[in-house]
Amino acid sequence: ATARISVDREAVVAPIDRRIFGSFVEHLGRCVYDGIYEPGHPTANEDGFRLDVVDLVRELGSTTIRYPGGNFVSGFRWEDSVGPREQRPVRRDLAWHSLETNQVGVDEFSRWLELTGSELMMAVNLGTRGIEAALDLLEYCNHPSGTALSDQRIANGTPEPHGIKMWCLGNEMDGPWQTGYMTADDYGKLAARTAQAMKAADRTLELVVCGSSGSAMPTFGDWERTVLEHAYDHVDFISCHAYYQERGGDLGSYLASSLDMQYFIETVVSTADHVGNKLKSKKKIKLSFDEWNIWYLDEHRESDEVNDEWRYAPRQLEDVYSVADAVVLGNLMITLLNNHDRVASASLAQLVNVIAPIMTEPGGPAWRQTTFFPFSVTSRLARGEVLKPRIDAATYPTAVYGDAPLVDSVVTVDEDAAAVFLVNRSLTEAITVTVDVWELGVAAVTEAVTLWDDDVYAKNTLADQERVGLKTLEGVALEADTLTVTLPPVSWSAIALA
Ligand code: AHR
Repeated sequence: ATARISVDREAVVAPIDRRIFGSFVEHLGRCVYDGIYEPGHPTANEDGFRLDVVDLVRELGSTTIRYPGGNFVSGFRWEDSVGPREQRPVRRDLAWHSLETNQVGVDEFSRWLELTGSELMMAVNLGTRGIEAALDLLEYCNHPSGTALSDQRIANGTPEPHGIKMWCLGNEMDGPWQTGYMTADDYGKLAARTAQAMKAADRTLELVVCGSSGSAMPTFGDWERTVLEHAYDHVDFISCHAYYQERGGDLGSYLASSLDMQYFIETVVSTADHVGNKLKSKKKIKLSFDEWNIWYLDEHRESDEVNDEWRYAPRQLEDVYSVADAVVLGNLMITLLNNHDRVASASLAQLVNVIAPIMTEPGGPAWRQTTFFPFSVTSRLARGEVLKPRIDAATYPTAVYGDAPLVDSVVTVDEDAAAVFLVNRSLTEAITVTVDVWELGVAAVTEAVTLWDDDVYAKNTLADQERVGLKTLEGVALEADTLTVTLPPVSWSAIALA
């Protein structure tokens, strides 16, 4: 089979904002405790952070990191997690039914972010708390000095303010599982008031209001409309969350999951613009796709993972990802980039151990899951501006999405380099793709990698940490401004050009 792609240098979607390569660290399972933080591990530094994990986070290339939840944030008392560690209380986390020791809080986490070179995106608790706690946290984190809470931060050993720009106004407040979940009307009012107060403290903040927890939520669309009718003038972003998994052995539909993400983005954009137009606002609301990933949620729902014990750092949501999962994840990144004019920020959920690209064993190694590879390569090679390519490819029938294109792609271009990212969704056929790169002004292929395997369900595990990795994409040619590549079935590939 064959496909053709052409690139128009003028068809710029957006300049790349590195926040599109964000991630997410929640106090959940072994993400923080026995994940990024494990005092006593041979690689741990004086704060108890594992430096082998820091190295992998840097290699992954994640930028902004959302913290500390997730569902966790809706019961979080931030005051518990600052000050002398030995005085911090142990609390029950109702969201994940586990014990929170508060040994890592915003001050420690900021120090960890300095090691990884990432920026903090903070969430406030609008589940059990409200405006006052949000303002207090903001003062503690961002006010330079000379006020009660900024001086408390200084006394706690952090002289410089954290300077956090992006703040989430709660988490998934549409979800019945959320502690303190609300109707769109109630949440919209609370979010608007909280945002207004936070911006009275600092008008340069960028605030994210909660959108839907998924496109299958019964309130999807209506939720966004109602919330934005209240909060439009006070917020900058609306959040989107989406998780995908293969269901019922239908790999073909699963490989087309990015079509749902596209539908999700288009629906939220048109809803937000509808509200903005009604309000005669000059502002456009951006999308923060601040939870996206593969998550075998159906299996977790059926298991007895959540039990009646109160455990420290339990093994929860530790999905082990396959080659097919990595191909879908790479495709979701293509979709995020192709919509980067409106999706200005995104967070892969999550980072370590919990539905994560990086896994660890207490006292043992840290390793890369299959999904690590498309993320790290895209974050490294996508530079400059995003160009939306014109793709001429055959389709295949799927049970969930109807006819889906066999090939998906995005192109990025910088002053002296370009990159083409490609997915072949065919279960059986290699596809030879020709890409007209004349308008990119490039002369050579500098890198060509692919993620595929004869066994689409191959995985990396503790016992076999390097079973799956990147392979060189063989037979790539650039002649007469035409790039020719042959994509193996069920594969994700990246080609760098200069
Ligand atoms: O990322 C795992 C969970 O998924 C988050 O805590 C929640 O926001 C979402 O439902």
